[in-house]
Amino acid sequence: METVLITGASRGIGLELTKQLLALDYKVIATYRNAPSNDQLSLKDHGDLTLVELEVTNESSIEALRESLEGQQIDVLINNAGIIGPDEQDRDNVSAPNWLETFSVNTIAPLLVSRAIIPLMQNAANPRIVTISSQMGALNRDAVGMYAYRSSKAAVNKVMQVMALELKEQGITVCPIHPGWVKTDMGGDEADITAQESAAGIIKLTQGLTLDQSGTFFTWEGDVHPW
Ligand SMILES: NC(=O)c1ccc[n+]([C@@H]2O[C@H](COP(=O)([O-])OP(=O)(O)OC[C@H]3O[C@@H](n4cnc5c(N)ncnc54)[C@H](OP(=O)(O)O)[C@@H]3O)[C@@H](O)[C@H]2O)c1
Repeated sequence: METVLITGASRGIGLELTKQLLALDYKVIATYRNAPSNDQLSLKDHGDLTLVELEVTNESSIEALRESLEGQQIDVLINNAGIIGPDEQDRDNVSAPNWLETFSVNTIAPLLVSRAIIPLMQNAANPRIVTISSQMGALNRDAVGMYAYRSSKAAVNKVMQVMALELKEQGITVCPIHPGWVKTDMGGDEADITAQESAAGIIKLTQGLTLDQSGTFFTWEGDVHPW
């Protein structure tokens, strides 16, 4: 069975992806910050789960993750860790340090983590890198405010598009995915769909991804999302 590495899996979509992938008999490596959440620990009895510490903005932490995985094959990397950014991110109030922090987590970290993990994907039959992005970063949509979050997701889409082109020769598929508006700490109670629905869609899409689809921006339902 394939091995899937999921970042930011203490709660929300990452936790639900972990749960569902274990139930499907995947081997899952799920990351946490500081200490695993109780929800993560409770999954230890439900399948082949390894919990590893990872602060995605810290290069030493990424290196420690890579070292801990030395010799293992990773089939799928899901760059899921993300933040909504500062409370105040309208044009008049967004602050540069907070904006940079949002970019650090949402845009730069997915490349740094991918870069560290790619060497472990070399022998995988169908290696895939999936990054949980957002339609809030899509340039085709007219919407105002949320400068830090929107720009970080627009930028990570470009990062993934470039990586997709570069990694095609190595046979690695790279796709950003919009997970829907999801009822999590980030999405809030008013959101459209549950984490269960979102994760099920992301897994179904990821299972079927092939190299010819690399560089496509998808929705959690498997539709192509305009950039
Ligand atoms: N929910 C939505 O409606 C929605 C919509 C579009 C896109 N997304 C995207 O989907 C992804 C997951 O969102 P979610 O709703 O599940 O959010 P969430 O419930 O807030 O969970 C975020 C996860 O990311 C982790 N994380 C945050 N910063 C990190 C860092 N610096 N290093 C390592 N881990 C970090 C958190 O860990 P801690 O528990 O340690 O904080 C947590 O596990 C994000 O990329 C988000 O932008 C969500």
